[in-house]
Amino acid sequence: MHVNGMTIRRFASPASAASALARHVARCLASNPNLVLGLPTGRTPVPFYAELAALHQSGHVDFSRATTFNLDEFAGVAPEHSGSYRAFMERHLFSHVNLSSKRIHFLSGVAPDASAECRRYERAIARSGGLDLMLLGLGANGHIGFNEPGQSLVAFTHKTKLTLATRQANAALFHRRVGDVPREALSMGMRTILRARRIILLATGSTKAPAVHRLVRGPITPKVPASFLQLHPAIEVWVDEAAGARLSASGD
Ligand code: GLP
Repeated sequence: MHVNGMTIRRFASPASAASALARHVARCLASNPNLVLGLPTGRTPVPFYAELAALHQSGHVDFSRATTFNLDEFAGVAPEHSGSYRAFMERHLFSHVNLSSKRIHFLSGVAPDASAECRRYERAIARSGGLDLMLLGLGANGHIGFNEPGQSLVAFTHKTKLTLATRQANAALFHRRVGDVPREALSMGMRTILRARRIILLATGSTKAPAVHRLVRGPITPKVPASFLQLHPAIEVWVDEAAGARLSASGD
């Protein structure tokens, strides 16, 4: 169905959404082996990464010429730290597929000059030719990447403060100790995300239903950063039944 110019795809379960998304990405890579992918972290994409890894192991997807850029990283956390998003990606995807390490791009949470690091990332995205397909998760509070709800949003990759809700949502990476979750992070900005040629946002589970509704039905407001995705000309929102529960079948 289509709402506010967005294509909504509904799936019976998180597992069926994950496997459809993995097959979709495999098809994109088959038609464009040099695909430049934007990648999210979080619990939502874990089954999707597992499916992608399985497709690779059965010879159905080749990443050898693909490029990836992850959305965000915690400030002050080294890539080797088990709580880093870099380590998360290594566990769930990178160590299972044939991506070339020189084409895996990540923000460094421990760069001495965060502004310079953010500018470096923007340049690297531009040099790669820009993001072909940005995959996104969705925070229960409507955040995307680490663009948190607030009075204003930031266009480009930047250092940002994390809300308590987001730190709680990420506590699992830090032995469930919210106090250990960094208070700041580096994230692609709204413009960085919206410049991707295509975007697919994946949201599963009932805790995401209110945010999915606000994202899709708008108003466009910095209080719900994901609502800005309505401005993108080629955005798809993929949900399971639970996350899509507040969107009526008629698209109304
Ligand atoms: C984190 C990430 C987001 C992600 C969100 C949702 O805060 N920075 O990019 O979309 O969590 O996570 P989950 O899928 O675990 O609900």
